[in-house]
Amino acid sequence: MSMSDHEVLMTAPVRLPRLIETLDEESAAFLTDVLTGLSADPKTIPPKYFYDERGSQLFEAITRTPEYYPTRTEIGILERHAGDIAALMPKGAAMVEFGAGAITKARILLGAAPIEIFVPVDISADFLGGEASRLQRERPGLTVLPVAADFTKPFTLPKAVAGRPLVGFFPGSTLGNFEPHEAAAFLKHAANMLGSGSTLIIGIDLVKDPEVLSRAYNDEAGVTAAFNLNLLRRIDRELGADFDTAGFWHRAFYNRERMRVEMHLASRVRQRVRVDGRCFDFRRGETIHTESSYKYTPEMFRALALGSGWTPAAMWLDEQQWFSVHALTAR
Ligand code: AVJ
Repeated sequence: MSMSDHEVLMTAPVRLPRLIETLDEESAAFLTDVLTGLSADPKTIPPKYFYDERGSQLFEAITRTPEYYPTRTEIGILERHAGDIAALMPKGAAMVEFGAGAITKARILLGAAPIEIFVPVDISADFLGGEASRLQRERPGLTVLPVAADFTKPFTLPKAVAGRPLVGFFPGSTLGNFEPHEAAAFLKHAANMLGSGSTLIIGIDLVKDPEVLSRAYNDEAGVTAAFNLNLLRRIDRELGADFDTAGFWHRAFYNRERMRVEMHLASRVRQRVRVDGRCFDFRRGETIHTESSYKYTPEMFRALALGSGWTPAAMWLDEQQWFSVHALTAR
C-alpha cells in the first residue's frame, strides 16, 4: 500500500454501502420512503409498511381484540345485507379486492354473489399467496388470481378479467389511511381502472364518541402497540437500521379537528438512530407519525365519492351507526 492510499484511508469519511443500489425495487422504495420520512419534520413513515408477514398477522390479531370494533361491525353489515349487495353485481362478474389480507370479508360476498373471478390484491406477497391458495381449495369453481401489488400505485389487472363486468371491493376503511387528497386520487384511479358502469363496494368507518375511537387503537392486550412497534423491527431487519424498539412507545389518539385517529411511535429518550449510514436524531418525546385513520360522516364520504368519479347508489349501516358500507357506480 502506498503512502497516499494510506492517507486516503485515514482521511476519507466513513462511507457505508449505499444499500439502495443493491436492494430489489421494493426494498429500495421502502428505504427511500423511510429516509425521506425520517428527514421530514415532523417525522413520518407511510402505514403501508406495517404489513410484512408479521405485521399482517398482528393486524389480524388486532381485529380479534374486544376494543377494535370496525372489523366485526363491518362483517355484521356484510352478512346482514349480503343479498342486497349481491343484487348489485352482474352475473359472471370479476371482483377485485384492494388490500385483501386474510380474505375474510370477500368470502361473505363470494358466497352470495354471481362472481366467477376473484382478484385479491395485497402488498404482502407471502401472506396473500397463502390466503389465495386456501380460498382456491375451498372454492374450486371460482377462479382466484392473486396480484401482489401496492394498490396505492397503478397496477395491471390479470388479462383473464378483460370483457368481464368489474366490481371493486375495498373494505376495512382502508381508504381512511389516505390523506383526503390521496383518497380522492385513489377513487378516481379506481373508477378509471374498473371502468364506467362498474360497482365499488367500500367500507368506511364513521365519526363517533372519541372514547370509543381511542380505545380501538389502544387495546388493553397491547396488540396495536406491537403492530406499531413491529415497523421499527422491520426497518432494522430489512434496511439494517439500529432502532431499539424499547426506546419507543405506542401513542394513539383521536384528533378532533382533523377527524382522524393518529398513531405515533414516541421516543422515550433523546437518541440517535442510524439507517443506511445516515443519522437521525430524536428529542425525548419526539414522534414518528406512522398512521392516520380518517373517520367520515356518511355525507362527507358521499361528497368525496361524488367528486371522484363515483355516484353513490346505496349505503348500509350497523344499528349503532358506527360503520358504513357504500355501493358506488362509476360514471
Ligand atoms: C387498515 C384501516 C383497517 O386504520 O383502523 C388498525 C389499520 N391500525 N389498528 C385502521 C389499523 C391500527 C386499520 N385499517
